[in-house]
Amino acid sequence: MDQVLVASGLSQQPAEAVAPVAVTHVRSIIAGMGGYLPERIVTNAELAASVDTSDAWIRERTGISQRHIASEHETCAFMATAAARAALADAKAEPGEVDAIILATATPDQAFPSTALRVQAALGCGGFGFDLSAACSGFIYALSMADSLIRSGAARGVLVIGAEVYSRILDWTDRGTCVLFGDGAGAVFVRAGVGNGTGADQGILSTHLHAQGSLGDILYVDGAVGRPEKSGHLVMHGREVFRHAVTRLTETVTEALAANNLPQSAVDWLVPHQANLRIIDGIGRKLGLPPERVVVTVDRHANTSAASVPLALAEAWADGRIKRGQLVLMEALGGGLTWGSVTRAHLAETIYTQVGLSRNESADLLETVLARMSTALESGESIKISGFGTFSVRQKGRRIGRNPKTGVEVPILPRRVLVFRPSQVLKAQVNHMALPTDHGDDE
Ligand SMILES: CC(C)(COP(=O)(O)OP(=O)(O)OC[C@H]1O[C@@H](n2cnc3c(N)ncnc32)[C@H](O)[C@@H]1OP(=O)(O)O)[C@@H](O)C(=O)NCCC(=O)NCCS
Repeated sequence: MDQVLVASGLSQQPAEAVAPVAVTHVRSIIAGMGGYLPERIVTNAELAASVDTSDAWIRERTGISQRHIASEHETCAFMATAAARAALADAKAEPGEVDAIILATATPDQAFPSTALRVQAALGCGGFGFDLSAACSGFIYALSMADSLIRSGAARGVLVIGAEVYSRILDWTDRGTCVLFGDGAGAVFVRAGVGNGTGADQGILSTHLHAQGSLGDILYVDGAVGRPEKSGHLVMHGREVFRHAVTRLTETVTEALAANNLPQSAVDWLVPHQANLRIIDGIGRKLGLPPERVVVTVDRHANTSAASVPLALAEAWADGRIKRGQLVLMEALGGGLTWGSVTRAHLAETIYTQVGLSRNESADLLETVLARMSTALESGESIKISGFGTFSVRQKGRRIGRNPKTGVEVPILPRRVLVFRPSQVLKAQVNHMALPTDHGDDE
């Protein structure tokens, strides 16, 4: 079977609205962010009046001092719609620009239609949409799916939402869980952008998703619509989850940096899942990030599950802490177990997008190529780069090149030309990290 055509029922959007975009340099750019928190705030002291706990215990063990709890009308769809509207407004985007909605939630309004489509109807946009279930990692998973849709050309504008009403699935007599969670929604609007392959480009650099179903019983909801005898409450083995959270999240953060060949010091902001301040501090320390580079909302929002990362992102964006073009690292872990991370920044991805290598390989290759080019130029060799951006130029009848590391212009002697053809040559050679040696005549 060489080719497969997959069609999915009704499409409200004509085909041309989601026409594929060129693969070269396509980036998923987070163009707008927004959030919604229920009006009602419940403090630790209020909780201590109904369960055997105290403000001091909750603060000391979790960093939480209050949470927002949804009223009856503040459903998952209601909050998601409000957050989505805010994200679209922030991006200065019209509902018509939305090709897809991916809504991460464990607490949808209904089994179906998906809450994503309730949001679609409320916003009056077309395209397609679906809910995604990955518990507290839901937003990271959804953003990764949006990135794939955009990179593949299947969508150009994607609303990614995390919305939760955990207050409806908590056992309010279980002090071990009911003090930890809150309600809310966060959203981002992700737009396809075309970069020029330089360091000025913006976009999602990489996403890393993981899951281990065998750990499903350390954090779960013990019921669902498929088990009508049980409506379901959240159950958690806190210590176990804590242990896995620190280990797995540190791993995935390290993985994200390694995949992009970035040092820890390159991270401008860590936007972590907001479950427990001790977990957040632990990962910040392992990353060597000072606390002022870590966005924290758990003290005021508690754990809003899939909504926690986009809510934190939207808050730090709205108050001017996060600025466009900075390197932002997001991570989350949740029931499943599921975990993952997303890095977002401006970085050249020419080799990655054009040659199809991994980012690690691309970064290594770029370094090797730059070093080789510098040496070649310094020794008077001329260079021709095909299909890879223009390097040499003519100026006043004389060919000059620019040292890519120093930016200094160097005259090119019209002798022999080292030819780089990344699409044909480099891909084949990258495993050995060897540079092409074929020399051709100058034009
Ligand atoms: C839940 C969590 C805060 C508990 O902290 P902990 O230091 O591990 O505490 P333990 O569960 O070991 O409980 C210690 C004691 O505090 C008690 N306790 C639990 N909740 C309490 C509360 N709200 N108030 C007062 N005491 C409480 C326990 O009953 C236990 O008492 P015991 O020693 O008499 O049995 C912590 O394990 C945690 O944050 N885990 C990860 C949670 C998480 O990230 N979940 C979401 C992932 S998406």
